[in-house]
Amino acid sequence: MIFETHAHYDDEKFDEDRAELLSSMQENGIGRIINVSANLESLENTRKLMEAYPFIYGAFGLHPDDVGDLNEDVMARMRELCRMEKAVAVGEIGLDYHYEDIPRDRQQAAFRAQMALALELNLPVIVHEREAHEDGLRMVEEFPEVTGVFHCYSGSVEMARELLRRGWYLGFDGPITYKNAAKAPEVIAACPAERILLETDSPYLAPVPNRGKRNDSRNLPFIAARVAEIKGMTIDQVAEVTLQNGKKLFDL
Ligand code: NI
Repeated sequence: MIFETHAHYDDEKFDEDRAELLSSMQENGIGRIINVSANLESLENTRKLMEAYPFIYGAFGLHPDDVGDLNEDVMARMRELCRMEKAVAVGEIGLDYHYEDIPRDRQQAAFRAQMALALELNLPVIVHEREAHEDGLRMVEEFPEVTGVFHCYSGSVEMARELLRRGWYLGFDGPITYKNAAKAPEVIAACPAERILLETDSPYLAPVPNRGKRNDSRNLPFIAARVAEIKGMTIDQVAEVTLQNGKKLFDL
């Protein structure tokens, strides 16, 4: 059984076949799924998925591209959602300096507010950090009691070591199977298997050989295979250790 720790099944790209697809997950070896919310609409849609499927858990937070919608009412609603039985994390939250539709200081304030929520509720966080390595690490230092996962980790080996030292996990996705994934093999080699999580970020980031297509959790074995290759493990060993890692981090 593989634990999918990051997917967006509320995305409209799944509107046509969501129920059919999700019903096939268990028979395809995907044991548990965390549906990660990103915007206002997906907060409620993640809750609905979590309530409809016993194997789906929820993470509740606003993605840095959507923190323009963050206000006191939204924070209050997120707090309620995060207190639900199958809510396992605050996320995805963080910083994205790639497009910068939302100014950096606004992103940082929203990230800080959501880290504080995680601290208050004693929940781990799922962090999206793109081209904001320095400021991302600064926020981690500001909240030493909060840990979680840097999802789709894209930083350096040095930063990975610092996160690992502070008790964080690293999430790896389809891009580690791409030919141009220069840093990923080095980072995975440096990361103990006990700190790796498998994730797809579906419907995005499909791994080779399905790159460019809509992604879903049935592609996780391709990601596990690449991790196994780098770590000198079997795919089954990678699936097992990452399942245990996910259960530990998300307290399942
Ligand atoms: Ni995501």
